[in-house]
Amino acid sequence: MKRIHIYIITILGLLISCKKETSVKTNNALENKVSELLTKMTLEEKIGQLNLRGTSSRVKGSLPEELKQAVREGKVGAFLNVMNKQYVDELQQIATTESPNKIPLIFARDVIHGFKTIFPIPLGMAASWDADVAKSSSRVAAIEASSFGVRWTFAPMLDIARDARWGRIAESPGEDPYLASILGKAYVEGFQGDSLNDPTSLIACAKHFIGYGAAIGGRDYNTAIINKELLQNVYLPPFKAAFKAGSQTVMTAFNEMNGIPASGDKYLLQDILRKQIGFDGFVVSDWNSVTEMIPHGFAKDEKHAAKIGINAGLNMEMTSQSYEKYVKELLQEGKITENQINSLVADILRVKFRMGLFENSKRAQDDSGKLYTENHLQLAKEAAIKSSVLLKNEGNLLPLNKNKKIVIIGPLANKPREQLGTWTFDGDKTHTKTPVTTFQQNNVDFTFVEGLTFSRDIAENQFQKAINAAKQSDFIIFIGGEEAILSGEAHSRANINLPGKQEKLIKELAKIGKPIVLVIMAGRPITITNIIKDVDAVLMTWHPGTMGGPAIYDMIFGNEEPQGRLPVTWPKVAGQLPLFYNHKNTGRPASSKEFVHINDIPIGAWQSSLGNTSHYLDAGFTPHFPFGYGLGYTTFEYTNLTLSSNVLTNANTLKISVDIKNTGNRKGNEIVQLYVQDVVGSITRPVKELKKFKKISLEAGEQQTVTFELEVNDLKYYNNKMEYGVEQGDFNIWIGKNAANGLKETFKYE
Ligand code: BGC
Repeated sequence: MKRIHIYIITILGLLISCKKETSVKTNNALENKVSELLTKMTLEEKIGQLNLRGTSSRVKGSLPEELKQAVREGKVGAFLNVMNKQYVDELQQIATTESPNKIPLIFARDVIHGFKTIFPIPLGMAASWDADVAKSSSRVAAIEASSFGVRWTFAPMLDIARDARWGRIAESPGEDPYLASILGKAYVEGFQGDSLNDPTSLIACAKHFIGYGAAIGGRDYNTAIINKELLQNVYLPPFKAAFKAGSQTVMTAFNEMNGIPASGDKYLLQDILRKQIGFDGFVVSDWNSVTEMIPHGFAKDEKHAAKIGINAGLNMEMTSQSYEKYVKELLQEGKITENQINSLVADILRVKFRMGLFENSKRAQDDSGKLYTENHLQLAKEAAIKSSVLLKNEGNLLPLNKNKKIVIIGPLANKPREQLGTWTFDGDKTHTKTPVTTFQQNNVDFTFVEGLTFSRDIAENQFQKAINAAKQSDFIIFIGGEEAILSGEAHSRANINLPGKQEKLIKELAKIGKPIVLVIMAGRPITITNIIKDVDAVLMTWHPGTMGGPAIYDMIFGNEEPQGRLPVTWPKVAGQLPLFYNHKNTGRPASSKEFVHINDIPIGAWQSSLGNTSHYLDAGFTPHFPFGYGLGYTTFEYTNLTLSSNVLTNANTLKISVDIKNTGNRKGNEIVQLYVQDVVGSITRPVKELKKFKKISLEAGEQQTVTFELEVNDLKYYNNKMEYGVEQGDFNIWIGKNAANGLKETFKYE
């Protein structure tokens, strides 16, 4: 019988023996300050702290008197989208000198992948598999945004995303909880900096809590059904990592999970967030998500929504104003208590104290030197190179020879706004370097014919011009994909091919017989099954940001190699979605031996006579490209996988080593990936789970032994009794280039 090593993290009924996962440093001095201030505050002022007021970033003219008065009366705790620096200064001045207890405001903004200097979209950043890149990008964003008075960002987004139809996959860290956790920690460290009271520190907001990425069918805002085991093992880990790194805030998700909208889910916000995890910052709703509990069918009106939100433990309401309108009444009716309000306000004040706002709430005055600095641009370019994934490189077409004749074609080759991607309100497109402007600046001899004027364009009137130009060239670089607006919030797609007539134009160009490099700028994996044979190389740059042009230039001509690896499984067709490598095995795992293609089924075939395994008759069971996949400009050979022991116990650590050799003729980078499978469990386990990875760089011909250490902690998971631990038994282990490839060994846990 299996022995379960129980590390009980009590959930629900077992709360008494609860062990918090994030160590909360009780700071008595801080708690005293908070309580002291609370005793001086009127009820109105307390309710004000729970209010996050949104304004339009396009407010023209002078600051509305109504806003100033609300602040003067202590009716606002924080603002969202005040992007006029003078307004920030004026509102903060009123709050800290004229409001009853002079409590400073916090100014919030969605600073998602850069503020002015835009980095690749978060899904692209995830493809870097690089915590340093993530951290430096969020530090740069914080330095730039804080100069505008922003001290709170609604990032990082840590929703595990397994469905590329979902528009917000662009903002996500991908499908893997381990990789997402590493990135989540790094983003928080970068945003918040070394000290929360540094004027360049932005408090982070881990979002969206929780399960937003599990929206049915990839349709935004939709229902999520997540059992406890998946919640704990897949969806929570990146949030836990962010809290452990000190994220001061968390945002509730729009969606319902298992029938309860996140903004009203007491189990999530109290049992999981506060009691299990030990989070001691504050919870903000998403935009109107408190009152959206009405259409969800969970609250009958605004007053009911406010009651649910307060009772669930949601501290701050974003934009909708049900707390402001109804908390007083709810208190009078005894539906909520003043203790509850005090506790919700205390969480917010605690963060304001930590941010040092009571001592210094002034915006750093001189910002001009902080934006688009050489260093920021350089980091953005590096991030774009490290995020780009080379999917195909037939006959080593890339890197190209600069002296050959090149034609650039495609709707995204010179689109300064589009290459910035989603959530880039502050990125100024005049600073963007596109591929076309970069090729020009580097005096490359090339012709540019757009062919299609935007990604969804269906007009063919420029096709002939593009074909003619292609005939005069040695190589075609087609730069297409999706405009920025096609991914991000509310921008799910059912068909994730290249939109418009891009496929048709590529097919026309392919007829000429010249080598084609397809560069894709997009917010999600794009299904390219229809055209993969028509192109020789495919470079996925995601939406690469301000410095996308120079990054692409360097990669195309080989000054740099693309270094990214897929943070999501890349489907052949949208019908395969959701698709992810760390799935369960089923009782009838798919296999190439059993698989029968739809075209091979005899006419009139008898029911159930063919390969009864888990696959699609038409799309098979493999993705187009697996999780972790990505090519470079050299090749690596993996040999000699060695384990220090075939038995892991609580007392030892396994040392796992592998020899990696650069077998090509230039220096290159590799991300060495270690996966594990727990073969039998009291609850079924994924077929593979990423547990470790290491990025290495080797000269041509160089060999290196890469060693990983694996301990029991790395294997722990929650079973459906919410017991956290490891069970004795067999494990498979692989080290390889991606989730579908690798040298294999086994070990036992005893
Ligand atoms: C999004 C959040 C965002 C908020 C504020 C919402 O629509 O879901 O991610 O932070 O708006 O802009």
